[in-house]
Amino acid sequence: MKLILDLDTGIDDALAIAYALGSPDAELVGITGTYGNVTVEQGVANSRRLLEILGAPGIPVLPGIGHPWGKREFVRKDASRFIHGDNGVGGVDIGAPEPQFPADREEAIAFIADQVRLIGEDLTIVPTGALTTIAEAMKRHPEVARAHIVLMGGALTVPGNVSAVAEANISQDPDAADYVFRHGENVTMVGLDVTLQTLLTTAHTSLWRELGTVAAATYADMVDYYIGAYATMSPDLGGCGLHDPLAVAVALDPTLVTTLDTNLKVDLGGRTIGDEARLSDPVKNTYVAVGVEANRFVGELMARTLRLFDTK
Ligand code: BDR
Ligand code: CA
Repeated sequence: MKLILDLDTGIDDALAIAYALGSPDAELVGITGTYGNVTVEQGVANSRRLLEILGAPGIPVLPGIGHPWGKREFVRKDASRFIHGDNGVGGVDIGAPEPQFPADREEAIAFIADQVRLIGEDLTIVPTGALTTIAEAMKRHPEVARAHIVLMGGALTVPGNVSAVAEANISQDPDAADYVFRHGENVTMVGLDVTLQTLLTTAHTSLWRELGTVAAATYADMVDYYIGAYATMSPDLGGCGLHDPLAVAVALDPTLVTTLDTNLKVDLGGRTIGDEARLSDPVKNTYVAVGVEANRFVGELMARTLRLFDTK
């Protein structure tokens, strides 16, 4: 399967990259950059540098839209700084990526549309940040709405993480998220219902450290920071939430989750909820993950990352 990841890189986004690169059944054709944990610029730099560390510097990383629909700028939340660190990778000094020609801000949109046309059925797009770029790509190129999309975002059966009802990625741009749920023809939502059941602890990161490679140490340092943030924020959870890598895993193996077929909308508070106007529509376009084989997923994540980091 071919993948495009749309990331606000971010520590769990960094794990999404590692999961994709560590999966023999996946080909990462490109990363597009959105905002949320960090700005688009910081996220793109982080993605590029992590690809270099993971031995895949040739994969294109293209910036997308840097602010919500209808707004002129993105304002980073203090909580994002706390959870992901100033530089988005837990304050770990990962260095700067090789310089590139300055990219056009909207290059990501044309890239997504081209890949949808070129690859068709075998392509899955995995957005794990604000949905502005994906929604704009659908709006400008309606064929993008036919692509398989497996997104990290939302909360249907559990509370939100930025308000009582809203999850962070959806709340960054509720209008864009609403557009994706209304227009996307094949959308799987991997939200807090399942991602907060999948956790990593320092027992896992110490297995990476034992490998003694640069990639293993970098990821262990980043994720230990993230585990520390979770220990302060959600002390009862017992680890850090594996939001974004779970979305990649579900794209590659949908049997990891059980889903509820529905038609979703996003209301003003950033809540993901069933669209009452489409309640009796026999066609459902969104599959909401409500159950997950957490141990199987964490095992897959560890197997893939240990194999990948061992050689880097
Ligand atoms: C989501 O928000 C971002 O901070 C994380 O990277 C993840 O995609 C969790 O709500
Ligand atoms: Ca993310």
